[in-house]
Amino acid sequence: MKILAIETSCDETSCAIIETKKQKIKILSNIVSSQIKIHAPYGGVIPELAARNHLGNILPVCKLAFNKAKSKLNDINLIAITNGPGLLVSLLIGIETAKTLAYIFKKPIIPINHLEGHIYANFLGEKWPEFPTLVLIVSGGHTILLLMKNHGCYKILGETLDDAAGEAFDKVASLLNLPYPGGPIIAQIASWGNPCAFQFPRALLPQTFNFSFSGLKTAVLYEVKKLKKITPQITADITASFQEAVVDVLIKKISLAIEKYHPQSICLTGGVSANSLLRKRFKKLAQKKSLPFFIPPLQFCTDNAAMIACAGYFHFLRNKVVAWQEIKVNLYSFL
Ligand code: KG4
Ligand code: ZN
Repeated sequence: MKILAIETSCDETSCAIIETKKQKIKILSNIVSSQIKIHAPYGGVIPELAARNHLGNILPVCKLAFNKAKSKLNDINLIAITNGPGLLVSLLIGIETAKTLAYIFKKPIIPINHLEGHIYANFLGEKWPEFPTLVLIVSGGHTILLLMKNHGCYKILGETLDDAAGEAFDKVASLLNLPYPGGPIIAQIASWGNPCAFQFPRALLPQTFNFSFSGLKTAVLYEVKKLKKITPQITADITASFQEAVVDVLIKKISLAIEKYHPQSICLTGGVSANSLLRKRFKKLAQKKSLPFFIPPLQFCTDNAAMIACAGYFHFLRNKVVAWQEIKVNLYSFL
């Protein structure tokens, strides 16, 4: 079957077409139009601007996805659409487009939670994680550690109590006068810094699998205020020490969860999973624990519609199709 997916939850307009055959998933196209350049001067995503740009981008992005996939709307068997969480009006633009297509072309449609989409970025490859799998979602808006017992069956173990991991990268970049989004630039600069130069706190919150990154961010702020002059080397040392602290906490929590829940595999996903230090440490941990591990290829770490299409496929297998009239934004619930 061919699945069309649309994702507009934040600042990426994305449309993908995947084909599933005998339990194999082939990505025919995955077009992502990023608005980073538009939001960068403001140091973060401006919701009104994001919505306005999704509106202009959505049809050309869909057209490109169809051209690249050499497909027509009539070939599509299912539409998957991100219905939250995310920016309200941005979500609505994707949702209304998908609903219109579903209505006019009489296609079944499935709403997909954006975070579940990130989980399914690890099911786009040839090998799928064995259940139960321990999943860490680290994105700009969320940090969630969960146990996935089967398709659609999730037990949340912990979440961030304040800033998400990606948000911490973005805010620390901003206080160092580095451009938005902070993650990629911090990772780049950190590569020539000393990760031991500054001792930033690791909030491990004993007895829970929750996370907290706001104290770390404030510690960086105080350190920056103390310094009279911030040379490029000091910036590199701060970013390296900060990145080390974030990765230490994430890896420690995954390690503790492995000991407690004995998963069959471990998965990392979300925008921050593009971070090379985190990917390296995650792989090392999996090898130490002799567990199969899954991290999406870089293009599927940050927001994309292919992961939404993949989640749509697994929902479809469980008969989760709904009437197009019933699809609404769902900003709050996880799954
Ligand atoms: O998953 P995503 O594309 O959007 C949300 O669902 O939020 O994640 C975006 C986040 C941003 O905070 C960005 O700074 C972070 O992912 N990010 C990274 C890297 N690449 C993107 N963080 C750390 N290292 C990276 N290489
Ligand atoms: Zn995301």
